[in-house]
Amino acid sequence: MRQEKRFRPHYFLLTWHAGEHGGGYVFDITICQLYIMCIITAGCYICTIPLTEKEVVTMPSITITPLAPALGAEVSGVHLHSALDNAIITEIKQAWDKFLVLRFRGQSLTDPQLLAFSRLFGELDPPGPNPYGKPFLEEFPEINVISNVKVDGVPIGNLGDGEAVWHCDMTYVANPPRAAMLHALDVPPSGGDTFWANMYLAFETLPANLKAKIEGRRAIHDATYNSAGVMRKGMKDVTDPREAPGAQHPLVIRHPDTGRAALFLGRRRNSYIVGMTLEESNALLDELWAHATKPEFTFRQEWRCDDLILWDNRCTLHRRDAFDPTVSRIMHRTQIKGGPIEAFQPSPLAEAS
Ligand code: SIN
Repeated sequence: MRQEKRFRPHYFLLTWHAGEHGGGYVFDITICQLYIMCIITAGCYICTIPLTEKEVVTMPSITITPLAPALGAEVSGVHLHSALDNAIITEIKQAWDKFLVLRFRGQSLTDPQLLAFSRLFGELDPPGPNPYGKPFLEEFPEINVISNVKVDGVPIGNLGDGEAVWHCDMTYVANPPRAAMLHALDVPPSGGDTFWANMYLAFETLPANLKAKIEGRRAIHDATYNSAGVMRKGMKDVTDPREAPGAQHPLVIRHPDTGRAALFLGRRRNSYIVGMTLEESNALLDELWAHATKPEFTFRQEWRCDDLILWDNRCTLHRRDAFDPTVSRIMHRTQIKGGPIEAFQPSPLAEAS
């Protein structure tokens, strides 16, 4: 019987041996063998790429764009709804120390995702008592709601539609929050802008006579009213700021993370500088507040839905504009626990120079 000879493609691989004698070898291989060789060669090549070059390719990165000369930066190139790479978290924290207020646009987050992102900055600090005496979100008591919306006549959140005056959050307690976040779920077409002011800059630019007057001084931070002027639950009206309930803090603090000096004013209403007459205290506080809230120290946020803003509560003040009461504005807000507030001690060397 005549045996059919099956056609099997063969390739010839010629390699030159460049050794002492020179010369060449010819190998007869199939296409399958050639394929395997290619894979091995590619693998060997990849393994020879230096580690640093590979890191450059895969290194996660975000873009930080300053928003105002005094403070505030936009962080782009990151989605906050999923777990973040450690390198990205470090970049965000460094930007936060530098710019004090960070804005992330286009962040459509659920409440658990907002809470997960907030926890990257420390332990959550549940909101202080609101005028209605119970959390706005039963399922997520760590989230505060800032809103003018009412359902069946009952407010779904705090602060209404009026102006919220300049303040720093919850400084009436011994350990005020280190950070806070606002996540915009519904915003008016105009109005309701929020402003932040840089208190490092306010201190650094304070005239020398005012610096001298506040050196070593402490102030009372009244707990009675919120920034919209609504009395907190269980409080009663204050007739003499010297007797206002609330913590006392140094007027110039040392930021626990950066070590920088910051003016620490809390809120103007019922504030009192300990050890002064009421008149002296009021006159000095008025001067300090007029300086600290100058427009050149501020950043203005015009909200869009899905904006998320993170701010440092120890070295900034914030306030909000009023807005049209017939439109709705809904923000979900978190806070991060802070530690004790320490006075700034100027180093003897800095004073001498
Ligand atoms: C706040 O003071 O935390 C709220 C600010 C705002 O409603 O924009």
